[in-house]
Amino acid sequence: MTHQEIYQLAKEWTYEAGEILRKAVTEQLTVEYKTSAADLVTEKDKEIERFFANKINQVFPTHFLLGEEGVQKDQAYQPEEETVWIVDPIDGTTNFVHTKANFSISVAVYVKGEPVIGIIYDVIKDEMFHVLVGAGLYINDRPAETALAEREIEEALICINHLWLAPNPYINEIKMQKMVGDIRGFRCIGSAALELAYVATGRMDGAIFNGLGPWDYAAGYVMLKEQGLVCTTTAGDVINPYQHSPILAASQALHTKILNDYIELKN
Ligand code: IPD
Ligand code: CA
Ligand code: CA
Repeated sequence: MTHQEIYQLAKEWTYEAGEILRKAVTEQLTVEYKTSAADLVTEKDKEIERFFANKINQVFPTHFLLGEEGVQKDQAYQPEEETVWIVDPIDGTTNFVHTKANFSISVAVYVKGEPVIGIIYDVIKDEMFHVLVGAGLYINDRPAETALAEREIEEALICINHLWLAPNPYINEIKMQKMVGDIRGFRCIGSAALELAYVATGRMDGAIFNGLGPWDYAAGYVMLKEQGLVCTTTAGDVINPYQHSPILAASQALHTKILNDYIELKN
């Protein structure tokens, strides 16, 4: 199958999965803690990941799945040599449980280490961000703008989590506090994937995260790359798409400014 055909199927399956989640928000959910009370998982997270696993295994038995819930975590493979689907079945589970909006399904396909497909679906808004590398980024049926505004720091809206403004083990909070004082505003939507899609489409100007899983950023990374935006670790290094990573995404000028003036990593 061509990449275009895989892309079409991936979108169809994501819409189907979205339908399941739209129904689920009206039903009683079973919520469990993963590592803490701030780290939730529901039976729907697992069901949606299983849904993708079944589809992929049926249609693409030679492809692999790297999913947050690890429904196929026992597969042994070299990701750089294979076709890998990187899936977050619900990104923003806390929103899914509490506010019942602002959560997404994130699906990426990487072929031999190269980003090829990125899909981020805001289920409640029925808004799908999607890209096949080289064919442009779309919001539903509409091509996303490509000439995004290059904003100065004082005009910028940046996605960051409140945790990085308070004492924390990763990043100098004093410099982060200075940054939020200098910019126009900061936002935390609560779905890292959606936040990256927003940067890729110019709704936000940048995003900073300290510890994302591949499923959180893989699809967003494809979109940012397609748009000519920069996405690195918070040290400015190239990302390994199959590993947990801190992430800094922005336009080239803003990325350099944030990296130089506001990010100091703790070690
Ligand atoms: C989380 C969300 C959240 C981000 C966390 C992620 P989950 O994903 O993307 O916005 O701050 O780091 O783990 O657990 O809801 O899939
Ligand atoms: Ca996630
Ligand atoms: Ca998740």
